Amino acid sequence: MPDPKVAVVTGASSGFGQLTAERLSDRGWRVFGTSRQQRDATRIEMRVLDVRSGESVGRFVDDVLRAAGRVDLLVNNAGATHVSLAEETALGEAEALFQTNFFGAVRMTNAVLPSMRDQRRGRIINVGSLAGLVGVPGQAFYAASKHALEGYAESLRYELEPLGISVSIVEPGFYRTALHERVSPAARRIPAYDRVRSAVRGAIERSFAEGGDPADVAELIARVAEEDRPGLRYRVGKDARLVPRLKKVLPENLFAIGFRKQFGLPPAT
Ligand SMILES: NC(=O)c1ccc[n+]([C@@H]2O[C@H](COP(=O)([O-])OP(=O)(O)OC[C@H]3O[C@@H](n4cnc5c(N)ncnc54)[C@H](OP(=O)(O)O)[C@@H]3O)[C@@H](O)[C@H]2O)c1
Repeated sequence: MPDPKVAVVTGASSGFGQLTAERLSDRGWRVFGTSRQQRDATRIEMRVLDVRSGESVGRFVDDVLRAAGRVDLLVNNAGATHVSLAEETALGEAEALFQTNFFGAVRMTNAVLPSMRDQRRGRIINVGSLAGLVGVPGQAFYAASKHALEGYAESLRYELEPLGISVSIVEPGFYRTALHERVSPAARRIPAYDRVRSAVRGAIERSFAEGGDPADVAELIARVAEEDRPGLRYRVGKDARLVPRLKKVLPENLFAIGFRKQFGLPPAT
């Protein structure tokens, strides 16, 4: 029997990452999952990793290569969010989000690429977001980090295709995971934003509560991992399919009216 293919899934302690790691293992992959804390899982080989640290990333990838000899698939899933208005968000928090959501994926990608280049084969699947395709009030820096990931993934794909390595980005809408429970409070409150803040918080909380089943996202990632010729973008969830399409076909001001309404925001003055 040939050796199983080797997958690395970052952020496999909960949500999409955990479910994706389990799906891949069900399909016969050898899966290394990660968390910032020491955790055990039955079928997944869990390791400690903080994607914000180059040292942690280097140690982790060396460890996987020593144990398995190669990495066939990297799922850049680890991520964090915030629900706070842009001006009320501390710059340090915005930078921390970029360190996880954007530079974390870059660090991981750079760390596995030498082994993928050597074998002239490999797959990188990034977990983007609907917020990587449209701006979202109350999530400006999350949206900015996911927009950055979109540009990075699309550019990288051209560079890696000739080496037999594919790059994809899966773009989920809102899903019921622990993501929003980990949100830290805003740095400060500026009274002028009171109405906007409460409308936005309510709308985002509702969207997460009414979100889809995260198993659908894991199923899609596992499918992309095994497709003959994976595409660049995969939208998942009703909202992720509908909203970017509306943004494309509607005049900008008409789209904004609908979007404001969705978030219960007052009209522009
Ligand atoms: N839920 C949604 O509606 C939604 C929608 C679109 C996109 N996404 C994206 O989906 C991905 C997974 O999120 P989720 O919804 O499944 O949320 P989740 O359950 O909170 O999972 C986030 C994972 O990321 C890990 N993580 C966080 N910071 C990390 C760091 N610095 N280094 C390494 N790992 C870190 C966490 O692990 P530990 O805490 O154990 O370290 C956890 O396993 C994220 O990229 C998120 O932006 C989510």
